[in-house]
Amino acid sequence: MSPTPKTHVLVTGGAGYIGSHAAVALHEAGYAPVLLDNLHNSEMQVVDGVRKLCDHEVPFHAIDVRDASALESLFRDCIEAGNPIQGILHFAAHKAVGESVAHPAMYASNNVGGLGTLLQVASAFDVRNVVFSSSCTVYGEPDVVPVDESTPFQEAESPYGWTKQACERVLKDHAATHVAHRVALLRYFNPIGAHPSALLGELPLGVPNNLIPFLTQAVAGIRGALTVFGGDYPTPDGTCIRDYLHVMDLAEAHVAALRWCFDQTAHTPVVRSFNLGTGQGASVLEVIQAFERATGETVPFTMGERRSGDVVSIWADASRAKEELGWTAERSLEEALADAWRWQQRLKTR
Ligand code: NAD
Ligand code: WQD
Repeated sequence: MSPTPKTHVLVTGGAGYIGSHAAVALHEAGYAPVLLDNLHNSEMQVVDGVRKLCDHEVPFHAIDVRDASALESLFRDCIEAGNPIQGILHFAAHKAVGESVAHPAMYASNNVGGLGTLLQVASAFDVRNVVFSSSCTVYGEPDVVPVDESTPFQEAESPYGWTKQACERVLKDHAATHVAHRVALLRYFNPIGAHPSALLGELPLGVPNNLIPFLTQAVAGIRGALTVFGGDYPTPDGTCIRDYLHVMDLAEAHVAALRWCFDQTAHTPVVRSFNLGTGQGASVLEVIQAFERATGETVPFTMGERRSGDVVSIWADASRAKEELGWTAERSLEEALADAWRWQQRLKTR
């Protein structure tokens, strides 16, 4: 189904890191994004950035996805305005692994409970197309790399990881009992970078846990040296390997996944998982070197102890996304790191 100006798509977590970039990609592809966020981990300035990039008053609703009556009003208002919601990109969730260990019930309530409420309301309004933010964390420590979508899930390493496994299951069970539901489960590897305009990027609160925001803050002098967590892993240079993909590539994958949902013609439910990564692994030391090449800056770092719970090596076999969604990651690691650095520099001046 080709987008028309009337193809309205609800973007939950639309003021967040990935949701905001996806909203811009949706707009560029001719869809009309409708943003929803409770601003728990984001700011209205992000919505301003989306509006600026879209050159358009993109609607924003400050709603908690667990608030069924607010969701019902939103779906109803959209219908009454002649702009029914036809698909959902569901990003809204808590995402910090360490926080989930400290607050497992909060993670279950928000991530699994939020999805449950959203699905109940969406089904009542006959919204059948859902693209869900899953994660490579569902695979845990894989026996073989790269991992494809048939790789069995391991016992979840954290409550956060468990919520992603549980949400995938909820979506499968829900779709199975509803006619013509189409669900794309997108298992992201490590999203990094920012919009090249530096109008959008990641807004980590407090000390970042993830590599790239910590690295850029260390280079900017906001933090001390980056600690590389472990140099004695069984990898070529002793540091862990991940599959880092540019957030704009990831954003565009959501458009492809939504199109895939719209293109399904079967009356039977269709639920399909897709790995989203570059298919290339990079070690922590390789990321540091790539950042230095891309920006001309020097990364202050020291070698440290292993971080508990870290997987040694994981990268994606993303061939299913290529074959079935027509999507591949186009941007290089250097480009993503240069964009992350440009965003970090902009943050300083905000
Ligand atoms: P983010 O925190 O930047 O964005 C999530 C947004 O959802 C935030 O703006 C937050 O305020 C909002 N939100 C949270 N709970 C909500 C609720 N109950 N109601 C309404 N809004 C709510 O995170 P992100 O990095 O953009 O991640 C988006 C999704 O992708 C999440 O589901 C996350 O688990 C998943 N994911 C992220 C990564 C990553 O590395 N960033 C990797 C794999 C999967
Ligand atoms: C990457 C590499 C660290 C910080 C997490 C979640 C996962 C997914 C993506 C949501 C690792 C090393 C990091 C630092 C370091 N999120 N590192 N020093 O752990 O692969 O995945 O984000 O679904 O669920 O677990 O990402 O960016 O934290 O770490 O050496 O200060 O960088 O050990 O090898 P990770 P990350």
